[in-house]
Amino acid sequence: MSEFLDVCQDVVKAAGQVLMDRLGRVNVRAKGRADLVTEADFASQELIRRTILAAFPNHDVLGEEDDGVTEATPRHSDYRWIVDPLDGTTNYVHQVPHFGVSVALEYRGELLVGAVYNPATDECFSAAAGEGAFFNGKPMRTSQVVGLADALAAVGFPNVVTQQSPDLRLFLAALDSCQAIRRSGSAALNLCYVAAGRFDVAWSFCTKVWDVAAGILIVREAGGIVTSTHGDDFRLDEPYYFAAATPDLYAELQALAARAGL
Ligand code: IPD
Ligand code: CA
Ligand code: CA
Repeated sequence: MSEFLDVCQDVVKAAGQVLMDRLGRVNVRAKGRADLVTEADFASQELIRRTILAAFPNHDVLGEEDDGVTEATPRHSDYRWIVDPLDGTTNYVHQVPHFGVSVALEYRGELLVGAVYNPATDECFSAAAGEGAFFNGKPMRTSQVVGLADALAAVGFPNVVTQQSPDLRLFLAALDSCQAIRRSGSAALNLCYVAAGRFDVAWSFCTKVWDVAAGILIVREAGGIVTSTHGDDFRLDEPYYFAAATPDLYAELQALAARAGL
């Protein structure tokens, strides 16, 4: 396990340096409406893929920017690395220092290790299953907040938000109930901030597996609760979640979602 975690932490930091080297001087392209990608996303992913495959040649690597990458052909390994080479691309493009690299390792559907690194603040959040969560190498725990009225919440919205979006509906319901709500622009960092006790609760109905794989493990190992948005076990193939620092807070979030008809 420790070899996996070492590779994971080292590679997010190396990729973070790739992002910083290019900050403020990249070409930007739209993959879809309000969905940006830059040369830095691809350079980061390429470095991560090469590093992981050098260490573990038989493992699979799933990256957000895989399209057209021949090395992305599945090896049908039980081990799969899940990579978001730049989470928070819109922040990155605008030079808002809130973005990160997210890498996790899954074994037959179970998350083994994960790391998220924000190179702009030099903050590394990581975890290994059963071994705890770490902030820059030191043990990390969620907050002990028990009521939504005292909670700082984090939301993520899809690139294109409609009136029917569950994220928007729960956001509107939560406005009255939470102390305050933030839309940070990085789904991976939202989860890490819950793990670090900065945010108390977070949810998303629109994330992709690479946005959250590392963050989910990090919250759990920091003592928080994560489930699917149906209240059952979180699943990597349906990566929508409710996350909370404490059981009481989680119960309040679920009740709020039910009242919002979700
Ligand atoms: C996005 C960010 C954003 C979330 C979107 C993601 P990207 O990832 O995490 O906060 O709301 O759903 O797609 O495109 O910057 O890697
Ligand atoms: Ca992302
Ligand atoms: Ca991304």
